[in-house]
Amino acid sequence: MNTKRMPFIVFEGLDGSGLSTQSFELKGWLEKKGYEVYLTKEPTDGLIGSLVRGVLRKELKVDAKTLALLFAADRMLHINNTISNLLDEGVIVISDRYRLSSYAFQSLEVDIDWLKKINEKSITPDLTFIIDTPPLICMRRIQKQRFHIELYEEIDKLEKIRERYHELAKEESNAFLIDGNRPIESVSAEIFKNVKELEILEGLE
Ligand code: TMP
Ligand code: MG
Repeated sequence: MNTKRMPFIVFEGLDGSGLSTQSFELKGWLEKKGYEVYLTKEPTDGLIGSLVRGVLRKELKVDAKTLALLFAADRMLHINNTISNLLDEGVIVISDRYRLSSYAFQSLEVDIDWLKKINEKSITPDLTFIIDTPPLICMRRIQKQRFHIELYEEIDKLEKIRERYHELAKEESNAFLIDGNRPIESVSAEIFKNVKELEILEGLE
C-alpha cells in the first residue's frame, strides 16, 4: 500500500462556472498518469448534506447561521469519514467545493470571521482552483441544465459571490483564480500545469 499522504485538491466557483467539469477532467488526467483518484463533492449526499440540499431547493427553511453550521457539519463528517482516510491510503482526493464556498456564499448574510471559526478544524487543501466565470454565462448554463432555480442562483447574488472569491484568491495560500471563460481544454491545461508543480507528485509530465 502506498503510505505517502496524497494531495487534497479543491475546485471552487459560482454555480455553472464549470467546476464539476474541471474536477472530472483532472481526475481523468491523473488516473491516466497511474494515480488512484477519488472525486467527491460538497454538500455531500450523506445525512447532513441531504438536509442542506433540501434548503437549497427551498423545500426546507432555516436561518442563515443554521445553514452555515449545517455546511460546516457536513464538511467535518466528510473529512472524518472519507477525505482523511483516503489521503492516508495513498489516494488523491478532489473535492468539487469545500470551505471557500462557505466563506464566499454564506458571507452574503453571515459574518466571515465566524464562518472561518466554525470551519477552523477543517484540513487545508494542497491546492484550490477558483474557476472564475462571469455570472451571466453561469446563469445561462444553469437555465439550460434544469428548470428549478436554487437559493443562490440569482445574478446579483452571483456578482457579490464572485467578488468574495476574488478576495479569497488573494488571501488564501495555495489558491489560484483560473479564467473559466475559455474553452474547456484551455482551462484544464492551466490547471494541469499547476498540479504538476505539487512536490509530492514530482516528476509528473
Ligand atoms: P452545487 O450546485 O455545486 O452542488 O452546490 C450547491 C450550492 O451550495 C451552490 O450554490 C453553492 C452552495 N454552497 C454554499 O453556499 N456553501 C457551502 O459551504 C457549499 C459547500 C456549497
Ligand atoms: Mg448548483
